[in-house]
Amino acid sequence: MKILVTGGAGFIGSHVVRRMVTTYSEYTIYNLDALTYAGNLENLKDIEKAANYKFFKGDIVDEAFVFEIFKEYNFDGIIHLAAESHVDRSIKDPLAFVKTNIIGTVNLLNAAKEFWKDDKKGKKFYHVSTDEVYGSLGANGLFTEETSYQPNSPYSASKASSDHFVRAYGETYGLPYVISNCSNNYGPNHFPEKLIPLFINNIIEGKSLPVYGNGKYTRDWLFVEDHAAAIDLVFHKGKNRETYNIGGFNEWQNIDLVKLLCKLMDNKLQRSLGTSEKLIAYVKDRPGHDLRYAIDASKISKELGWKPSVTFEEGLEKTINWFLENKEWLLNVTSGEYQDYYNKMYS
Ligand code: NAD
Ligand code: DAU
Repeated sequence: MKILVTGGAGFIGSHVVRRMVTTYSEYTIYNLDALTYAGNLENLKDIEKAANYKFFKGDIVDEAFVFEIFKEYNFDGIIHLAAESHVDRSIKDPLAFVKTNIIGTVNLLNAAKEFWKDDKKGKKFYHVSTDEVYGSLGANGLFTEETSYQPNSPYSASKASSDHFVRAYGETYGLPYVISNCSNNYGPNHFPEKLIPLFINNIIEGKSLPVYGNGKYTRDWLFVEDHAAAIDLVFHKGKNRETYNIGGFNEWQNIDLVKLLCKLMDNKLQRSLGTSEKLIAYVKDRPGHDLRYAIDASKISKELGWKPSVTFEEGLEKTINWFLENKEWLLNVTSGEYQDYYNKMYS
């Protein structure tokens, strides 16, 4: 099989590419990534020379480029992860999200439609999406695959739109597809604009920890390698035209999570207990901030036999160790453009 993974140099994409390259030596994995601020080939250093791996630098918004590589390689499957992924950035620049997340996805759909039109057997367009398309939960309830869409941020609206396009190409053109909607990931290689890696970096540097609003927002956290395992399973075993919700069965209010992180970091850095907690600063809330996300992952669990393999404690331990052992990675990604972003976002 020739499989195109888009966004493979990013956080989740790099774990998916590594898993596919190392598990399936009989496949060739093509990684297409524009290497935006979030894309980093350092994430794939260990497998970059594998015989069954090829990298293309390119933009999914560039229709001619997308068609060219489809024509040349005639992929059997696509695992589409390339996206603008940070909610705060989407609030400042929604159009960038429309371009990559909607137009980019439609370009890939058009290429798949064109090149698979005479033979759809064994083909699959897999769109990796988010639970944020469902909007926000109150204190109770879980997102199921039947929950109606109610995106609240430009990011989630763009992902919801791309989900709808994928479904529409299935209905209208018979394109074989599958979609998954996952909760918040964390783990190695996570870009330090998102809560967990940002706070790990700030604790290392002794900088303040900007908790939005009252800190009582809830997220359902999943270790990134468990998401990659679920993606592998959905790609191979997921039923045509189905959606699968993926989550960690692991809800945390932000403030409780931040306090836990502070404790673990004090311990790792051999600082006295309470040092990092003093860095917590309540700041202005995120506009349109979703109160709570929580996934009902019973469908993927029952139908495909998936469940998370690590506990939150184990996952956080692995994550913190990785960041402490990869200070150069952190330094590289936090120099340059990151400083500008940080100053504008948190000044
Ligand atoms: P990320 O921001 O870390 O990585 C995105 C990757 O896409 C980067 O390598 C970037 O260079 C690439 N990219 C961006 N624009 C591109 C373009 N126009 N053309 C080609 N490549 C482009 O994102 P992530 O957190 O790894 O998320 C990956 C996917 O998973 C996204 O689709 C996101 O919506 C989805 N998702 C993320 C989470 C999460 O918690 N991070 C949860 C559920 C779903
Ligand atoms: O639910 C899946 C989604 O999770 C993915 O689709 C997104 O790509 C991913 O970025 C993530 O979105 P969130 O907005 O939930 O993640 P983030 O890490 O930005 O924020 C997590 C929570 O922490 C949220 O309630 C906002 C809060 N927060 C975040 C930052 C960056 C803060 O309090 N302070 C911060 O500085």
